[in-house]
Amino acid sequence: MPNQLQEGILVGCGNPLLDISAIVPMDFLRKYSMNEDDAILAEDRHMPIYGELIESFSAEFLAGGSVQNSLRIAQWILKQPKVAVFFGCVGKDRYAEILEDKARSAGLDVHYQVREDVPTGTCAVLITGTHRSLCANLAAANHFTIDHLADPVNKAVIENAQYYYISGFFLTVNPPSIMQVAQTAHTNNRPFLMNLSAPFISQYYMAPLLAVLPYVDIIFGNEAEAQAFAEAQSWPSGDLREIGKRLVAFDKLNSSRPRIAILTQGCDPVLLFQQDSVQEFPVTRLLAHEIVDTNGAGDAFVGGFLSQFVQGKSLDVCIRCGNYAAGHIIKNPGCTYAGEPQFIE
Ligand code: AP5
Ligand code: NA
Repeated sequence: MPNQLQEGILVGCGNPLLDISAIVPMDFLRKYSMNEDDAILAEDRHMPIYGELIESFSAEFLAGGSVQNSLRIAQWILKQPKVAVFFGCVGKDRYAEILEDKARSAGLDVHYQVREDVPTGTCAVLITGTHRSLCANLAAANHFTIDHLADPVNKAVIENAQYYYISGFFLTVNPPSIMQVAQTAHTNNRPFLMNLSAPFISQYYMAPLLAVLPYVDIIFGNEAEAQAFAEAQSWPSGDLREIGKRLVAFDKLNSSRPRIAILTQGCDPVLLFQQDSVQEFPVTRLLAHEIVDTNGAGDAFVGGFLSQFVQGKSLDVCIRCGNYAAGHIIKNPGCTYAGEPQFIE
């Protein structure tokens, strides 16, 4: 059992989404012009997907939303409730109740902004074999406003935290809130962590991403996301090692704490970039029959990492715990876990 941590030491902001997950034939993806490993935002033409998944493919409902996933996983590993607090916007409906219930039973404290006139966001998870394609209908999540952070209780929560984590996904919703949290982290010399989240963020939201990047102490991403960033920046090489080096060298406000980049690449080693060094951390390969679905693997990796980082553990321990958590989540549907965590430092 780790030492007792300060309540609310970790704060995250993101899109609280209920995942509607089903195994579908390739034809279903083609019908909606989607690819096997997409992560996109729903347009009008995607709206029938959710109903179809429920009616024709006996979809499962699972707690989702990238940041909330990561914080739930961190809580599961930490075992001490309310170490992490989550901000995001939901509707006033059954889906919000499910999300809140899953978060609280994991020990995660949620401070949702509630919109009575908009439904809670959902994410269609279309599983084809070992691939998963995501289509997020942000709905209420898209209505998060900065005044929620000005609420005296929430303001105190942010001021008391020591670590901050926000997804790239949240850049599509409310960049001013991200900048405010980043500024608080900076003013108080506290770590601010971010995720590239999906290729479309670098493709379409580069301006707000570049605005916040100078505040980012640790940046996470997978191969495709790192490559999308490099392409959007017209960097000459698509080589992950080159991209990682450039990510850590990118402008940074607090130069006394050089940026760290952590890039995952599925079952290949995790790459840790610090100034001029690149280190590899091996991943224990899972056997085909052990894999339920990889949905949530990246989020769980971050959750495992955060659970150790907030305890001041070394990056080596943080990354090994990230790999442990991701491996566990892959053996379970969506971003869910079973039983007690078994991570050994
Ligand atoms: P999804 O993108 O599926 O989750 P993810 O956590 O990013 O998982 P991926 O499978 O994409 O992993 P990755 O590619 O990031 O990482 P990698 O494969 O390198 O999204 C899930 C959630 O996103 C949903 O719940 C949804 O609600 C939410 N979401 C979607 N759109 C959103 C939006 N607009 N706003 C907010 N939320 C949104 O793997 C990472 C690690 O996993 C590896 O380092 C390794 O440790 C492990 N690992 C991976 N593959 C293997 C393997 N074969 N064997 C062993 N370990 C493995
Ligand atoms: Na899974």
